[in-house]
Amino acid sequence: MFDNALFIGFPYVAVAIAIVVSIYRFWFDPYSYSSQSSQFLESRVLFFGSVPWHYGIIIILLGHITALLFPGLWGLFTANQTRLYILEIVGLSLALMATVGLVLLLYRRMANARAHAVTSEMDWILLFVLLLQVGLGFWVAYYYRWGSDWYLHTAVPWLLSLLKFQPNIASVSALPFWVKFHFVGGFVIILLLPFTRLVHLLAYPFSYLWREHQIVIWNRSRMN
Ligand code: HEM
Repeated sequence: MFDNALFIGFPYVAVAIAIVVSIYRFWFDPYSYSSQSSQFLESRVLFFGSVPWHYGIIIILLGHITALLFPGLWGLFTANQTRLYILEIVGLSLALMATVGLVLLLYRRMANARAHAVTSEMDWILLFVLLLQVGLGFWVAYYYRWGSDWYLHTAVPWLLSLLKFQPNIASVSALPFWVKFHFVGGFVIILLLPFTRLVHLLAYPFSYLWREHQIVIWNRSRMN
């Protein structure tokens, strides 16, 4: 019963709220679709936090999504022991890199008075939830080895069943507490998306990928 609420009810509610509120916000407050920059207040720690955090987490999440979308190919890849070892080591290193970056970003907002002043309650909540989720991911990957393989037989069938609107939690209900905590945490982050600066994910300038490149031409005579 409790598992049904956590692994069926909550994911659907979280995604529905995230979609409705994101559309509402885009419609009525489009200029708020951003992660308001504080770079001009402090830029050095920002750089050393932001770069490892973003590279680490983006690659890890791409891994989560690729395994979900192409379970067959992912299974073939992890069937080889050497490749599985490499995947685990790369995953753990990226998780460590992302965690260090995130801790620096948190530290910066705590220690720098100017960055602290522009940090909202929702920013704090988001930063702590992300830290918890990434920490849990690391914990799960470290203590329940070969997650890049068992992910295919636990998370993937459950997530696909949700996507097909034929929810089935048989593959996740017997998992250890910390693994379940991490899985549900993924949907907590989806829920937070439209209420926090995470909304900038939806505002990434994707059109840069296909728009015509710009040619910059001097429009005045050069002085020297
Ligand atoms: C429903 C959503 C999610 C599921 C089912 C899931 C599942 C998993 C699993 C099974 C692992 C272990 C992989 C391994 O041992 O290599 C893992 C690792 C990890 N996850 Fe998630 N996750 C979800 C969402 C997220 C989100 C939203 C984040 C971050 C914002 C995240 C961050 C991490 C990190 C940092 C690791 C450790 C990286 C690694 O060693 O591969 N996960 N996740």
